[in-house]
Amino acid sequence: MAHEVVLIPGDGIGPEITDAMRRVVEATGVEIAWQVVDAGAGVMDEYGTPLPEHVLDAVAKTKVAIKGPITTPVGTGFRSVNVALRKHFDLYACVRPCLSMPGDGSRYRDIDLVIVRENTEDLYAGIEFAEGAPEVSELAQLVERSGQKPFRADSAISVKPISISGSRRIVEYAFEYARRCGRKRVTAVHKANIMKETDGLFLRVAREVAERYPDIEFNDKIVDATCMGLVQDPYQFDVLVLPNLYGDIVSDLGAGLVGGLGMAPGANIGHDVAIFEATHGSAPDIAGKDIANPTAEILSACMMLDHLGEHAAAERIRAAVRATLAAGESVTVDVRRAQTGSTEGAVGTRTFADAVIAALGNGA
Ligand code: NAI
Repeated sequence: MAHEVVLIPGDGIGPEITDAMRRVVEATGVEIAWQVVDAGAGVMDEYGTPLPEHVLDAVAKTKVAIKGPITTPVGTGFRSVNVALRKHFDLYACVRPCLSMPGDGSRYRDIDLVIVRENTEDLYAGIEFAEGAPEVSELAQLVERSGQKPFRADSAISVKPISISGSRRIVEYAFEYARRCGRKRVTAVHKANIMKETDGLFLRVAREVAERYPDIEFNDKIVDATCMGLVQDPYQFDVLVLPNLYGDIVSDLGAGLVGGLGMAPGANIGHDVAIFEATHGSAPDIAGKDIANPTAEILSACMMLDHLGEHAAAERIRAAVRATLAAGESVTVDVRRAQTGSTEGAVGTRTFADAVIAALGNGA
């Protein structure tokens, strides 16, 4: 029976890379009944919301979705559809493997680390008060009453909730993932030296959880030192578990170790529902030009196929992507530029997908 999957193409480069991904997945012969639905700014006029109810209903029914990126207006406008989906389905674990492939154009070789990002709380919770809002002065009074140094009256405020239960389940997820995937070490990343309450709680819970997994090494590292460590000696890391905002930032750093955002896949996992998507955004600077690298989206589909139990197809696609990159003849501009300093000879999104499909056919 065909797997039922919701496909949200997204906007910007989303339609191009999801089309490439879909063609590659279909070339494996795995039967998927795609249910295509749209979200984002493009549906605002019709539905009055960037995330219409029928999109949520469709994902609730299939329990598996793959999406392209969706643009979020900066500073003003609607809140992130991507964050809203994660919150709605309580997709608490964001898993982002960073794995080198020969020919990926990176300065580094043999990177193999996994970022496990908490996906539902922290500064990403979206609890904010605008400058001048009455809540800001109420909070100012609260801070004053608590004996802490008051903040400036003309401040805007973002709230950073980090809970015991939220921290426990993401750290447990990281350890379970490490066990399941034969990983050796989990590193909890935080800024508990400064944010003693929120990040301090995250670290305390991480240490408690770690005691239940004596077979997996555990250590912790402050987020700024982690960033330097990732650049200087990324091989010291295996699985990293982070609160939401640090996870977001360190994910892009991790992508930079394996050839860039065009190479970094991801999954948002909850108890019930899983939504797969690349780490990168909608890349408006290159949208509609058939030049985006669809590898991250294709590798996200591999994670989806694994989730659906289609391991053989997932491995075949990974091998075909590896073979295509290693051959180096059909690579997109980001990879070509990284490899040679020039974009000459690069191919488009569609042609890259064709090359991966051809490699699948060659038994890669
Ligand atoms: P971005 O990730 O879209 O782009 C950053 C840089 O990486 C750009 O130069 C872009 O051209 C390049 N890039 C990204 N993906 C690429 C690919 N597949 N191939 C080649 N180059 C690629 O980040 P940016 O510009 O900060 O965000 C654009 C929009 O995307 C914003 O509205 C943001 O909110 C949204 N966004 C959405 C996400 C999602 O849907 N999950 C995640 C991150 C950002």
